[in-house]
Amino acid sequence: MATIVVENLSRVFVSGGAKLTALENLNLTLEAGDVFGFIGPNGAGKTTTIKILATLLRPTSGTAVVCGHDVVQDPFAVRRSIGYMPDFFGVYDDIKVWEYLDFFAAAYKLPRNSRSSVIAGVLDLTDLKTKKEAYVETLSRGMKQRLCLAKTLLHDPPVLLLDEPASGLDPRARIEIRELLKELQTMGKTIIVSSHILPEMEEFCNKVGIIEKGHLIVSGEVKEIRQSVRGSMNVELRVAGDEELATAVLKRLSGVSLNPAESSAVTAGLEPIRFVYSGTPGSEHQVLTSLVTAGVKVLSFYSPATDLEEIFMKVTKGAVN
Ligand SMILES: Nc1ncnc2c1ncn2[C@@H]1O[C@H](COP(=O)(O)OP(=O)(O)O)[C@@H](O)[C@H]1O
Ligand SMILES: [Mg+2]
Repeated sequence: MATIVVENLSRVFVSGGAKLTALENLNLTLEAGDVFGFIGPNGAGKTTTIKILATLLRPTSGTAVVCGHDVVQDPFAVRRSIGYMPDFFGVYDDIKVWEYLDFFAAAYKLPRNSRSSVIAGVLDLTDLKTKKEAYVETLSRGMKQRLCLAKTLLHDPPVLLLDEPASGLDPRARIEIRELLKELQTMGKTIIVSSHILPEMEEFCNKVGIIEKGHLIVSGEVKEIRQSVRGSMNVELRVAGDEELATAVLKRLSGVSLNPAESSAVTAGLEPIRFVYSGTPGSEHQVLTSLVTAGVKVLSFYSPATDLEEIFMKVTKGAVN
């Protein structure tokens, strides 16, 4: 079932007579259980999109439907279906962790008699049980982020909208957030999680979208994007002591381009010989055959998987920020 359907969504900001198109004709469909990594540099339009889905910002044109409810026609039904984590954590003085959660549980109109068990549940999930009586302002940034996530889970929404949940966290806290997201994924929630950093998304997102200057430039299943972007393939070759012969053979082959450093210097066997193969996909074995036939002692012939970072650089042509 499609839980999020966005069609031709646009948002224009007008300030001081100037018009700025923050989002232009965004289309996106997510199914229950999808974890969508929404990736793009600062100012790309991620927060604008998420705020529209969270009913906090009206679209200029286009539609967004969450769990069957239109964000403009039926914002209250949408709010019941979503947990929204904004990109900043507000300031809360003199309030304890459980009071904070109790306040939001009441705002979500959770029945009084079930509130304490629901709060205990989200504290457990976000690993904050021991902080129940702590004052919010004493928590580390990572804990605050987890508390904010705990808040979004109180009413057990099927959809989570998380705006840069890992931003500004140290590596350890990032890992904790990532583990938490994986757990939420196993619970079958539809999750949109934005980030301007790629590698941390690969592990748990089944879909990604890359947005730049208000345009979604690629979007879809991670594995399909990998395939479509990958017109050429990087290969790492290790040989037993005959690098010069190997590079000579490679230079003769069509569809092979050696990295400039490789074509002159001999790598002394420490570094692999790197080249790009842009022949027919699936026919790279012919390169290996040619090497072996010419007498090159091939130790390994390996193509590292294209990671999202590389895809990102390719589609945005390095025009990040
Ligand atoms: N309230 C606003 N008024 C005017 N411009 C805005 C407003 N909110 C966002 N923008 C602009 O819209 C663009 C997209 O911003 P945003 O959605 O926050 O990007 P991201 O979250 O990807 O960093 C930016 O150029 C930003 O300056
Ligand atoms: Mg943002």
